[in-house]
Amino acid sequence: MNPTSVCSPSSSSGSSSSTKLWIVHGVIAGVAIAATIGAHAYLGRSRKFRSRVVGIIPARYASTRFQGKPLVNILGKPMIQRTWERAKLASTLDHIVVATDDEKIAECCRSFGADVIMTPESCRNGTERCNEALQKLDKKYDVVVNIQGDEPLLEPEIIDGIVKALQAAPDAVFSTAVTSLKPEDALDPNRVKCVVDNHGYAIYFSRGLIPFNKTGKVNPQFPYLLHLGIQSYDSKFLKTYSELQPTPLQLEEDLEQLKVLENGYKMKVIKVDHEAHGVDAPEDVDKIESLMRENNLF
Ligand SMILES: *[C@@H]1O[C@H](CO)[C@@H](O)[C@H](O)[C@H]1NC(C)=O
Ligand SMILES: *[C@@H]1O[C@H](CO)[C@@H](O)[C@H](O)[C@H]1NC(C)=O
Repeated sequence: MNPTSVCSPSSSSGSSSSTKLWIVHGVIAGVAIAATIGAHAYLGRSRKFRSRVVGIIPARYASTRFQGKPLVNILGKPMIQRTWERAKLASTLDHIVVATDDEKIAECCRSFGADVIMTPESCRNGTERCNEALQKLDKKYDVVVNIQGDEPLLEPEIIDGIVKALQAAPDAVFSTAVTSLKPEDALDPNRVKCVVDNHGYAIYFSRGLIPFNKTGKVNPQFPYLLHLGIQSYDSKFLKTYSELQPTPLQLEEDLEQLKVLENGYKMKVIKVDHEAHGVDAPEDVDKIESLMRENNLF
């Protein structure tokens, strides 16, 4: 399939309907009490802490598993457009840009009205691409949200939730989201698990099941947490993040976020109600399309 062909003006009418969101109706208050206290403290100030927020959607063309993935057609629209439209509904973002190394992706995004920043092909990952894009933006931002383009059903409430969590936790440099882990995903190493402390700060992430029950079995009673790909960073930290050398746990688990924790930085985690439907491989497209049809999400 030629991915460029999907970026012709789409025939499907109507944008994704936010009123028909079936997955989540707002960010669940699984956030620690500490966050609430923090939020109250900031309400009294004239200018909110970390108030200027940019959402960056990193999108590269080349991918070993799925060439041209951002442009894949999902019910009549390129996936990147669906992600962008969802991000536009978030109330905390002052600006949204697509950061790409590819002219076809850039053209496609401009055609539906997105701002595009060209970033080098050499960027090794999305975090680095976000950092490059941030340096090229005209305005200054306090917070960067890394919106991965392969979750076209991501709820804008989740974006807002992690931004607000970071604004309310000045001791954290990073925020992210988790949801309930389904028992059948417990032993899947591609599903990253997370454990948090009483105040909603991340303790650890693993591809293995954490915590581990001494029976060696999945405990059906335990509320295991699944990590979702979305992240936001303090913009000053983003540069540091790319420069931090790989750490032992990061390398062993192949989880970039671990180097944040290994270096002693704090990461705020919010709990949301979300069914993850990431598009990692071509066969995921059919799955997400049937799901959208069943739930009238167009
Ligand atoms: C382990 O899991 C079982 C259920 O499978 C649960 O009853 C028990 O409390 C868990 N923890 C320990 C320490 O056994
Ligand atoms: C992403 O790139 C940065 C900078 O090159 C590097 O420090 C970091 O470890 C990379 N992360 C992954 C997951 O490869």
